[in-house]
Amino acid sequence: MIKFENVSKSFGSIVALSNVSFEIKEGEFVFLTGPSGAGKTTILKMILREYLPDSGKVYFDKEDITQIKEKDVPLLRQKIGIVFQDFKVLPERTVAENVEVALAVTGVEENEWEKRVDHVLKLVGLSKRANLFPSQLSGGELQRVSLARALVVNPKLILADEPTGNLDWDTAAGIMELLEKINKEGKTIIMATHHQGLIKHSKHRSVELKEGKV
Ligand SMILES: Nc1ncnc2c1ncn2[C@@H]1O[C@H](COP(=O)(O)OP(=O)(O)OP(=O)(O)O)[C@@H](O)[C@H]1O
Ligand SMILES: [Mg+2]
Repeated sequence: MIKFENVSKSFGSIVALSNVSFEIKEGEFVFLTGPSGAGKTTILKMILREYLPDSGKVYFDKEDITQIKEKDVPLLRQKIGIVFQDFKVLPERTVAENVEVALAVTGVEENEWEKRVDHVLKLVGLSKRANLFPSQLSGGELQRVSLARALVVNPKLILADEPTGNLDWDTAAGIMELLEKINKEGKTIIMATHHQGLIKHSKHRSVELKEGKV
């Protein structure tokens, strides 16, 4: 589903990725690991076409996304759900409204919203908190809001960047369980993390980066 072929990327004199190649199959759950600055977020941003490589190819479902036109980038992003560490929830909106925003942005018909929002809030265990505001939620609950928002557009692929970074062990384990459940429903998951404990407790494959190399 995702394939990097000899991808290199520098920012000025900083080499972020150096000749990186790996492949992730549809339905897999893969960790992207490695120390701070190793290039994990850079890889996720390349899959989103936020960054273009200096050289090499990035395939999404056999299509080289480094070659797609700017106008086709939103189409690519519709297939991807993103969960980032810093939550990025809107403080002035309720939990349900935060999830609805994702549907509005991707142009889903308004008469579908309620059904889809109910479904994902149930999935992440937040049904009872649908009408609360972000300031009324715990860190783990906030992280689940961002997961619900990623899932509601029904993406094929979930990119998670340190989704457990700010959470205590139990809460992090809860998020992991949720990601496992989502993966079992058929979604491909790529999760960047330095959380060694989580990786050790998991059966999934890791793509390990060090100084921009796999
Ligand atoms: N937009 C940018 N401009 C300049 N340098 C960048 C940019 N994005 C990334 N870099 C550099 O590329 C390298 C890799 O960064 P990246 O964010 O991919 O690391 P990471 O593995 O995600 O680290 P962390 O675990 O700390 O999140 C770093 O040295 C970083 O400073
Ligand atoms: Mg990062």
